Amino acid sequence: PTMEKWTGRSSLERRLQEYLGISAVKIVAGDCDRDPVTKNLLGLKTAEAFVSTIENGQIIAVTGGSTIASIPNYIEKANDLQELLFIAARGGVGEDIGLQANVIAASFAEACGGKYRTFYYPESLSEETHKAFQNEPSVRKMIQLYEQVDCVIHGIGEAQTMANLRESSTEEKEMLQKTEAKGEAFGYYFDRTGKAVHRIRTVGIQIDQLERVPLIYAVAGGISKAAAILAYMSTAPKQTVLITDEAAAQEMLKQI
Ligand code: G3H
Repeated sequence: PTMEKWTGRSSLERRLQEYLGISAVKIVAGDCDRDPVTKNLLGLKTAEAFVSTIENGQIIAVTGGSTIASIPNYIEKANDLQELLFIAARGGVGEDIGLQANVIAASFAEACGGKYRTFYYPESLSEETHKAFQNEPSVRKMIQLYEQVDCVIHGIGEAQTMANLRESSTEEKEMLQKTEAKGEAFGYYFDRTGKAVHRIRTVGIQIDQLERVPLIYAVAGGISKAAAILAYMSTAPKQTVLITDEAAAQEMLKQI
């Protein structure tokens, strides 16, 4: 039965990888929605993949969220990881402190024995102030640094869940419903065709910059995220490696 399970999961990985047209799909057992241990398995799987592909001296941008926060626990300090630099894929405050990208970048650095650089950016700025802020030297420096990123590790959120977590305005939530936003990543919201229908006012890695990043890990699991993952995958760069769980993978195949 173990062998059968193994074969089942690897054929699922292949089918999804071909359908999504990305570099690879890795699937762990379980369902994040029902069992918190599954999130740790995602963390472990991603940590293993990351450590085996990253090279010393590289720059890694990470996003926030509980899934990405689970990865550093499974990284061990190693001499050849000490020159890694971790940064937040977007500046942002307002979310649960432990799940903010800046904090997660710091825990990655601590786990590896590497370095990190924080980037704080208020998310509640008016359109005008947001525009002005983008000309700040510290912000411009960060945008330049995003050009040099070698690896991105990011989560994917279900659109309405993310809007609720962010305490978005009723107006914003209605707009997300109207535009049929399904998934969220890096502060962008995507509909089922992968079109970015909305973006929160922050500074972060841009979609066109992402295209130039050689190594991308997208990590998300749970049945409730299946539609969100599919939405984002319609636009994800080809070099993306998706790390997900069995429940989300099965549900994605049903929805395809
Ligand atoms: O951008 C996606 C979200 O940050 C995912 O959060 O891993 O806690 O579900 P989560």
